[in-house]
Amino acid sequence: MRKKVGVLVSGRGSNLQALLDACGQPGFPAEIVLVISNIPGAYALERAAAAGVPTTVIPHKPFPSREAFDAAMDEALRAAGVEIVCLAGFMRLLSAGFVTGWKDHLINIHPALLPSFKGLHTHERALEAGVKLHGCTVHLVTPELDDGPILVQAAVPVMPDDTPDTLAARVLEQEHKAYPQALRLLAEGRVRVEGNRAVVTG
Ligand code: GAR
Repeated sequence: MRKKVGVLVSGRGSNLQALLDACGQPGFPAEIVLVISNIPGAYALERAAAAGVPTTVIPHKPFPSREAFDAAMDEALRAAGVEIVCLAGFMRLLSAGFVTGWKDHLINIHPALLPSFKGLHTHERALEAGVKLHGCTVHLVTPELDDGPILVQAAVPVMPDDTPDTLAARVLEQEHKAYPQALRLLAEGRVRVEGNRAVVTG
């Protein structure tokens, strides 16, 4: 049985597209059953619709609290039978209650080699720091921001003439490979969590 996946998005959804494409391959152990956006009109919603995947828009603004917004998303995910939640450019912090409720079944992609450059503007900060390698990380989500056991990382070289945009594009190419890889590992049940480490088996 393929694992049922829900994807949370806020924007253009290129990582969602990579996951949709992977799930469309024969033998891939997961299927996307719901895409939720907090932003009406996000391009990611069109990508989901084009792939025939149901979408729900849950704007965060009308909710009185982060917890109430997260509870609405949680309800929609559970009603759809979701077993794994992927954050794909979802630009809202999640409450501890939501994260705990999906413990070890909630993954995020971050555009940096964690634990370096948590938070926003990772490419600008990597250039400022003068690092020679940069990249992306797919990790299990814990209540601390951009923390949690690492599943997959991919590194790219930083070129002397890079701008944040050229570096972002090089990293993004790797994101589109790393995210499906990580989802596959989790969906196949090959991830064991030991403290803050994810041990991949098989
Ligand atoms: C991606 O680069 C992703 O790693 C990043 O936002 C972009 C979304 O692009 N995520 C974060 O910064 C999370 N804090 P996409 O909508 O095309 O997938």
